[in-house]
Amino acid sequence: MLEQIIKERGIPALPNIDNTDEKREYMKRILAEEEYGLPVPKPEEVTYEVKELENANYMTGNATLEEVTVKGKLLGRDFSFPFKFVHPTDKKNQKVIVQINFRYDCPDKYTPAEEIIDRGYSLAVFYYNDITTDNNDFTNGIAGILFPDGERREGNATGKIMMWAWAASRVADYLETLDFVDMDKLGVAGHSRLGKTALVTAAYDDRFKFAHSNDSGCSGGAIHRNKRGETVEAITRNFPFWFCPNYKKYINNEGAMEFDQHWLVAASAPRFVEIGTAVEDVWADHESEYLTCVMASEEFEKQGVVGFVHPDRYPELHEHMKDGHISYYVRPGRHFFSRYDWNKFMDFIDLKIGDNK
Ligand code: GCU
Repeated sequence: MLEQIIKERGIPALPNIDNTDEKREYMKRILAEEEYGLPVPKPEEVTYEVKELENANYMTGNATLEEVTVKGKLLGRDFSFPFKFVHPTDKKNQKVIVQINFRYDCPDKYTPAEEIIDRGYSLAVFYYNDITTDNNDFTNGIAGILFPDGERREGNATGKIMMWAWAASRVADYLETLDFVDMDKLGVAGHSRLGKTALVTAAYDDRFKFAHSNDSGCSGGAIHRNKRGETVEAITRNFPFWFCPNYKKYINNEGAMEFDQHWLVAASAPRFVEIGTAVEDVWADHESEYLTCVMASEEFEKQGVVGFVHPDRYPELHEHMKDGHISYYVRPGRHFFSRYDWNKFMDFIDLKIGDNK
């Protein structure tokens, strides 16, 4: 059944390149050129300022909340942004999730920090507007550094999603300096536009072993071709600044794309990617997200791991298909980053690292 659907929707194959590294580089290059814009370079210098915000009074007293300010130089200019880092006070071999969020609060309605800590995870959260604002203003934050003279963005110019993804990598730089963090278990998670960002983060930075994209839909987890809900036309009309200008070539012309969103997931192979979605989020389109998993699987298998284990039909509610390196589920309800979603992600990670306490 799925083969027929994939054929009818005209979803292209992954690039026909034998060498794994070359193939990944090729997918990253095309996605950057045509959709998200060029990746932001690494900073020349970075330092961290760590401040303890809460200890004995945080949660039940078993977690510590710190604020880490990342300061550095990028293309010769100063940048800085803070993130919150919550970890159990008795620092141990830690699995950490980096969350790219809509607010700087922790806990937050999208961040059930206490449940996350209780499951043995640490959490690093940053606020995406602290990197650069979520609008067409390219004069602030990292955007202001990349486009210093307010120059017009053209062609493959970096979009905001790529800038937020860059910041997640800067958080990973810090985590790498801590001996109690286990980098083999590092995850990244985000919801909606920030779920798109989580996928981009993992595709471009292989220090992230697990990615969770929540309700990310168009330009995130969902195949473009014949997608329900949001399309390239709608997303580039409302949010052109998330992408590079080249992406507009595909307005009402998705069939002309050499790629589709399974390339983005395949660029994270052979690591672990989860696409979580909600049945009432028609704008995101959970079936098109499912097809992304189906189509990305081949690359994981080529690299010698189990890809996406799924039946030959569309998913049913609550089914958590997590036997391979790609995980997918569709839950009831709407567009929201819920406890249900977090638990699915942590179940997936625990299963893969053999930590089923
Ligand atoms: C809009 C947008 C989506 C995006 C969502 C969000 O609905 O059209 O693409 O995922 O906002 O980020 O909340």
